[in-house]
Amino acid sequence: PAPVILDVDTGVDDALAIALACRLPEFDVIGVTTVAGNVDQQRATENTRRVLHFLGAGDVPVAPGLTAPLVRPHRDAMAYHGPNGLGGLELPPSPGRMVGAHAPEFIIQAAREHAGELILVCLAPLSNLAVALLLEPELPRLLQRVVIMGGAFTVAGNVTPWAEFNVFVDPEAAALVARSQLPITFVGLDVTTQVRFTRQQWERCRGLDHPEPRLISGVSSWAFEHRQLESYALHDPLAVAVAAYPDLIRCERTAVSVDTGLWSTAGQTTMVRSNSAASEHLVALEVDVHRFGALFAGALGVPMV
Ligand code: BDR
Ligand code: CA
Repeated sequence: PAPVILDVDTGVDDALAIALACRLPEFDVIGVTTVAGNVDQQRATENTRRVLHFLGAGDVPVAPGLTAPLVRPHRDAMAYHGPNGLGGLELPPSPGRMVGAHAPEFIIQAAREHAGELILVCLAPLSNLAVALLLEPELPRLLQRVVIMGGAFTVAGNVTPWAEFNVFVDPEAAALVARSQLPITFVGLDVTTQVRFTRQQWERCRGLDHPEPRLISGVSSWAFEHRQLESYALHDPLAVAVAAYPDLIRCERTAVSVDTGLWSTAGQTTMVRSNSAASEHLVALEVDVHRFGALFAGALGVPMV
């Protein structure tokens, strides 16, 4: 299996992405780093440790990272993820270990140790990766792949009409990352809003007694009971799945620019097809919805419909 680090702001869909990554035989999750995003960094760290412990993966090291975006004040998404960020699900505390290293250092050390092999899956604002890049300019050559849940290229944003949350929260970090030569696949709202967990699936999960269905039914109650949604997007789990199975999506190779202005379009991500000097990345434009659904349901032991 490939060594993998997840960078998270746990978060309902981050919790499910962690569960998926831990169950994929292609992956050896060697660490999880946390950052301010959906919730503050301390809460993200605590939620991550509890989720790992609940899944029987409490020995996976968790390294806390940046407590705020590079330049702007932090904006959270508690309204979407519930009062504790986990849809109100209370999980027992973890006795598992905390890492001494700060997230960017942890990423750099792991990248050196597993040079050319490590896959980094970023499911949160990109503050940790931006700092890691500044500290270790060789990072693009050390990482095998970087899969980023972030951006909205051909569709509207989910915070403003222009911006997707992870880019919106720290556009300066996202711009730095996009300008780099990291081997990035952007998995944005263009594809993530197509893969959904439904109320019907949730209802069928509720009687099941394994940790994964219990986790998914617990974190989903905020969406289905409080917010009265009929389904919600599995943004972060799709990025994990793409990291394991790149052919789940169809991509375009292009440079990416991020709006770091002070106006309403801040955080907008654009495919720049004409600037040949810029580094190019893969941007996901289509996804095999059915195959992802089967993979997600199979790995977590939840019903497909
Ligand atoms: C992204 O924002 C967060 O709220 C989710 O966890 C996901 O990473 C979707 O825009
Ligand atoms: Ca997230």
